[in-house]
Formats: sequence, C-alpha cells, structure tokens
Amino acid sequence: MQYFTLKVIDIIKDTSDVITIRFKQPGLKKIKYKAGQYLTLIIRINGRKYLRPYSFSSAPDIDLYLEITIKRIQGGVVSNYLYDHIKVDDIIEVMEPMGDFIYDPSSIPNNQHIMLWGAGSGITPLMSILKTTLNHSPDTKVSLFYCNRNPEHTIFQQEINALKEKFNKSLVVWNFYTGIPEDIYLNYQISGRIDESKIMSVVSNKEELFGSVHYICGPTGLKNTIKAILSKLEVPATNIFTEEFEVLIDSQQLDDIQTRMVTIIEGGKKSVIEIVKGKSILDSGLDQDMDLSYSCQTGTCTLCKAKLLSGKVKVIGVDKMPDDVAEDECLLCCSYPYTDDIIIQI
Ligand SMILES: Cc1cc2nc3c(=O)[nH]c(=O)nc-3n(C[C@H](O)[C@H](O)[C@H](O)COP(=O)(O)OP(=O)(O)OC[C@H]3O[C@@H](n4cnc5c(N)ncnc54)[C@H](O)[C@@H]3O)c2cc1C
Ligand code: FES
Repeated sequence: MQYFTLKVIDIIKDTSDVITIRFKQPGLKKIKYKAGQYLTLIIRINGRKYLRPYSFSSAPDIDLYLEITIKRIQGGVVSNYLYDHIKVDDIIEVMEPMGDFIYDPSSIPNNQHIMLWGAGSGITPLMSILKTTLNHSPDTKVSLFYCNRNPEHTIFQQEINALKEKFNKSLVVWNFYTGIPEDIYLNYQISGRIDESKIMSVVSNKEELFGSVHYICGPTGLKNTIKAILSKLEVPATNIFTEEFEVLIDSQQLDDIQTRMVTIIEGGKKSVIEIVKGKSILDSGLDQDMDLSYSCQTGTCTLCKAKLLSGKVKVIGVDKMPDDVAEDECLLCCSYPYTDDIIIQI
C-alpha cells in the first residue's frame, strides 16, 4: 500500500451540507487514479486515527487537481470534522486510490449508451465518470438519472448544467426531486423517487436499458430498485457496476449474535477483546485502540482480511464475498462473533 500526503488548496461549498476539498497533486509522486475510484483519508481526531474513503469527484487527465466531495452525516465523526475544521494549507495523509467501480473508456465500445444512476452524495464518483466519458468519448450517449430532495440540495447542479450545454448532443439529465409535492414532468424534472414506472416513462424503450452499461451509486433502496429492473430485463451482470457508501444492517440479522470474547493474534502478540453485540470485530478492535488495517467498511476493499484459526463468524451486510477471500479467511468489517472459540490471525 502506498501512502501520500496532500495539501489542501481550496474548499468549495457545494450545498448547505456538502463541501468539495481540492488537493494539489504531490510534486514528485503523482497520484494516478481511474474515474469512479476513491481516496482513503487518514484523519486524527482527539488522539484517535480514523480512515474514511471518499470517491474522487475530479476526473483523471481532465481536472488538474484532485477533488473529493463530502456530505456531512448527522452524528458522523469524520464528515463533520472535515466540514467544520478543514482549511486551506492543511496537509492530509491518504492511501493510494482503490475501488473497482471504474469507468475505463478503452473497455466500453464508443457507441454504447452509458446510464448513470445516483442520489445525493452518490453523484460523486458518477461526476468523475460523467466528465471522463464526455471528454474521452464525445460520441457516446450518456444519461444521468439523479435523485435529490430539491434543487437547493442537488450537488454539482451548475457543473452538470454546464456539461449539458457543452455536450448537448450526447448528455441527457433527468432530475428526480423527492421534496417537490405535486407531480411535475417539466424540463427533465420529475417529482418523487426513481422507480420503474418513472424510468419507463423517460427511457424510450426497454432495449435501451438492456443495451446500456449501468453505474449505480446511492442508498441501498436506489441500488435495489435499479438492479431489480435491470435483472428483469436480463441485463448482463458485467454491464452493471454498483458502489455503496455504507451498509445498512437489518437488526433481525443480529438476533442470534451475542457479546463474546475474541482472541486476535497480531505479529505474535495475543489480545483478547470483547465484541459487544451489534459491533463488527473491526469496530470493536478500533474502539479498543488496535491498529487494524481497513478502508471501505462495506466488505469490498479486503484490507481488513484476516485468517480465522478457529470458531465461526457471521457475515452481515455483504451479499457476496470478494473472490480473494479464502474459506478460512474473514473480513473483520462485516464479521460478527457466532461462537465462543474464535481465534483470528492478522
Ligand atoms: C467506497 C466509498 C466511497 C465513499 N465516497 C463518499 C463520497 O464521495 N462522499 C461522501 O460524503 N461519503 C462517501 N463515503 C462515505 C464516507 O466514507 C463515510 O462513511 C461518511 O463520510 C460517514 O463518515 P463519518 O465518520 O462522518 O460517520 P461515522 O461516525 O462513521 O458514522 C456515524 C453514523 O452515520 C451512519 N453513516 C455512515 N456513513 C453514512 C453514509 N454515507 N450515509 C448515511 N449514513 C451514514 C453510520 O451508520 C453511523 O450511524 C464513501 C464510502 C465508501 C465505502
Ligand atoms: S474494510 Fe474494506 S473489506 Fe473490510
């Protein structure tokens, strides 16, 4: 893993609860990334180290600077800290870019329609993909379906309008607003959430959905809605990319989990820690000041992978384990203790 230190050169207020942090590229060791990837920030607050991933909103080879866009989450430790305290000239340590929610212009035929589905801060990686597609493949048709509470809470609306003007032959944008009461269907604005009937009323036909490449980033509800529609149409899984910012845990899944003691062996040192019911093994380890490796906390980056020497864990919040997690391994961020004899080696 490579680490970099980045200097903040600007902070842009996008909406009342969203900022974009602009970093200067390092002088010697430039950061290379792909549209759709994220940067993991390492932030120290009151003596504790926190790692949080933020998708690039800037586009590689197009934007001179590196940009990430952060929405403050109620009660959130890092998002509020960044929103309230980050300033120009601050230096922030980051990990190398990661993520497989990637748009690679060379792997998608120039005439294939790209459909971007987003809500709220989920626009961030889609913005990077949007700029990359339009600039690298100007003949490619791109449709953005973007859901927000109202125009005031819509991140990047001005930038998107400017792209619409510049690329008026290839880009179509549908804004969905949940906070606009009456049913309006005006100027590419629709009231309510993105659902099947609204999609079918704006997409010219099912073949258009079937033949497109889809990128979805937003809350679980949006992801499930779009995936269900695409799966009914038998859109190949290789043409659907999804990114999740957080996992939602159904409390029923915790019914058979109890507070248990777990043994963790790290570099020959043995620690026995308590995993309180409801907390993942990663969360409990971090609460007890263990220096554990992690980033996404959604079961995708595999940085928290560990060997399960004995006992059983329950995996919660992840539909499919990444391919490189072996039978005798687990991801600490989505593992909950299921038996009393758990021994984990990091
Ligand atoms: C791959 C990836 C890319 C991401 N990109 C972005 C991005 O571009 N912009 C951005 O703003 N965030 C992004 N996030 C989310 C970000 O990493 C943090 O999780 C988020 O800022 C909350 O961190 P926190 O420390 O403020 O909240 P925490 O203190 O970790 O959590 C506080 C509470 O907020 C809830 N919560 C955590 N994350 C979210 C969320 N995203 N939405 C709603 N509730 C949440 C938690 O369940 C918890 O109850 C991304 C996450 C991932 C995994
Ligand atoms: S922190 Fe990314 S998989 Fe666990």
